Amino acid sequence: MNQLDHPQAIRDLVRPDQVHKQLYLSEQLFDLEQRHFFGNTWNYAGHASQIPQAGDYITFDLAGQPLLVLRDHEGAVRVFFNRCAHKGAQLFTSESGNTGGRFLRCPYHAWTYRMDGSLLAYPLKAGYECSGLAGSEASHGLVPVPGLQVYRDFIFVRLSRGGIAFDDYFGPMRSAIDNMVDRSPSGELRVEGGVLRNTIHCNWKFYLENINDPVHPVTVHESAVRAAQAVWQPAVADTPQPMSVEQILPFGAKYEFFHGMGGQVYPNGHSVSGTHFSIHSGYGELGDYARDLEAALGQERARQVLEQSPQNAVLYPSLALKGSPQTIRVIRPVAVDRTVIEAWNFRTVGAPELLLERALAYSRLAFSPMSFVAHDDVHLFESQQRGLRSRGSDWVSLHREFSADEPDQPNQATSGTSEWLIRNQYRAWVRFMTEGMASE
Ligand code: FES
Ligand SMILES: [Fe+2]
Repeated sequence: MNQLDHPQAIRDLVRPDQVHKQLYLSEQLFDLEQRHFFGNTWNYAGHASQIPQAGDYITFDLAGQPLLVLRDHEGAVRVFFNRCAHKGAQLFTSESGNTGGRFLRCPYHAWTYRMDGSLLAYPLKAGYECSGLAGSEASHGLVPVPGLQVYRDFIFVRLSRGGIAFDDYFGPMRSAIDNMVDRSPSGELRVEGGVLRNTIHCNWKFYLENINDPVHPVTVHESAVRAAQAVWQPAVADTPQPMSVEQILPFGAKYEFFHGMGGQVYPNGHSVSGTHFSIHSGYGELGDYARDLEAALGQERARQVLEQSPQNAVLYPSLALKGSPQTIRVIRPVAVDRTVIEAWNFRTVGAPELLLERALAYSRLAFSPMSFVAHDDVHLFESQQRGLRSRGSDWVSLHREFSADEPDQPNQATSGTSEWLIRNQYRAWVRFMTEGMASE
């Protein structure tokens, strides 16, 4: 047992207003997180539109566990540990594909499985008679993940057997997904344009904190905004801004703007920043889109959907949504100081083509490793990862707009600049870490 492997040691690392640097630096803690925290929370697996046909699959790793997400012939989504019941080979190693039939066949010794994971056949059957295989774990076939929920085509999994139910875990945060899906007059989103995948050399928590930190753009993105301002000098007054300029300039807003945009914390680490307005609120109208949405949803709901353009909605700990450019980011921790960030874009079915272009443009401008924006953020995350190794203070300050009664209020509106949204992440982190430990 290592010294951090008990609940009190975990609790000691998180104070109401600051967290210990071990959270970002300790390999032992990262291993414990993989097992307890990521086992015990609901994490994003993918979108159903990535596997539209029977037999379509995607593979990915969650908390060190290789997983296989599959569409069966009844149209249901299934998620298995990607491990052959025989000797552990992965059923598929490519990122996506199709099974090519009604069965899954292991590429090693050709054991085959039905779409529900049960073992169908294996070569040299006679040699297994009276061998004990029938009573062994191998005979049960592929192992499904214990928790699986598809919410409006967003696929989530929980790796632990026990634990919180999906609806209790996300609660009101499900409305952030509703907001994205309801932007489609036909209620359908489709992943398009591939994925931007970026490995950053820092702990995953820096990235997730920064999504909830609208105090940083004023300094971190100042140079990008200045460059956009210098380039955008319209020769004729009232010339409509190009999409890239429309997207970059709001990063230059002042502290007052970000303070006033509002934030909201929810139980279990979830949050919305930009509850009143955000850097996405000023994007231009898209032709008849608002009218089409009204026809589909009714006037009131259409107005609600379009008015809500949060800067970020965090479905803690693996997913961040941007409901106006219709993009998402997925956070995949790989090592204590290595994290993969994925940016995916949606076609909002039935909406103008320009909405997809907006999503793709935003991803390129703000999330791509070659972007105007992300490289400045990543520089700071990697700098934090190095800076915290110093013998300076052991604690990371999260005091901005803290008050002592805050921990008793798990469901609260706050200002856009409060670090409450980040403190809220750590209250959930302690909870799911220690509950995961207790349940083993
Ligand atoms: S490891 Fe899959 S059949 Fe042997
Ligand atoms: Fe940033």
